[in-house]
Amino acid sequence: MTRLGILLSGRGSNFEAIAFNVAAGKLPVRIAVVISNRPEARGLEKARAHGFPAVCIPSKGVPREEYDMRLVAELKAYEVDLVCLAGYMRLLSPCFIREFPMRVLNIHPALLPSFPGLDAQEQALRHGVKVSGCTVHFVDEDLDAGPILLQAAVPVVDDDTVDSLSARILREEHRIYSEAIALVASGKYRIEGRRVIQIR
Ligand code: GRF
Repeated sequence: MTRLGILLSGRGSNFEAIAFNVAAGKLPVRIAVVISNRPEARGLEKARAHGFPAVCIPSKGVPREEYDMRLVAELKAYEVDLVCLAGYMRLLSPCFIREFPMRVLNIHPALLPSFPGLDAQEQALRHGVKVSGCTVHFVDEDLDAGPILLQAAVPVVDDDTVDSLSARILREEHRIYSEAIALVASGKYRIEGRRVIQIR
C-alpha cells in the first residue's frame, strides 16, 4: 500500500480530510508520517491526536538544501513513497524533487496557472475573476507549476471576502486532494507533456 508522508506548516485541515478518508476506508493508502517545519503548527497536534507519527524538523535558520536533505532522510526512514504538501509553506529544492520524481503532490487554492504563490484567494478577488477554485498538481522544480491532476471550480460572488471565498474553496480542496491521491496510488494514469491522462 502507498505510504504517504505529509508535510505541513499550519492548520492542517487538508491533512485531516485525508486522514478522515483513510480512516473511512475511502482512500487506500497509509499515512506513514506527518512532518512540520514549524513547531507551533496546529496540524502537528492534530496528527498526534489521530495517532500518526508526527515529527517537527524546525527550518528556521537552516539552509534550504541541508534542510531538505534532513527531510528526505526522515521520509525515507518512514518508507514514504508519496509526499503530499498540505499547506507546507516552503519551496522544495531540486535535490528534494530528484529524490521523489513525480512523487510529490501539492494543493493550491486557485485554478492554476492563475494566481500562483501566496494569498491566491486574495489575488483572485483583487483580479475580479468570477470563478476560482483549487488545483492538485505534481510538484516540479518551479513554484505551483507541475502537471495538473485535478481541479475544482467555485463561483466568486459579489459580496465575497477573502475568508468566505477561502472557505468555499477549502471544501473543494478537502474533496479533490483525496481523489488525486487515490488516482496516483492506483497508478492508473500516464503523463504526456503537461497532461495527466487517466487510464480507465
Ligand atoms: C490550503 O488553502 C492549501 O490550498 C494551501 O494552504 C492551505 C493549507 O490549509 N496550500 P490547511 O493547513 O490544510 O488547513
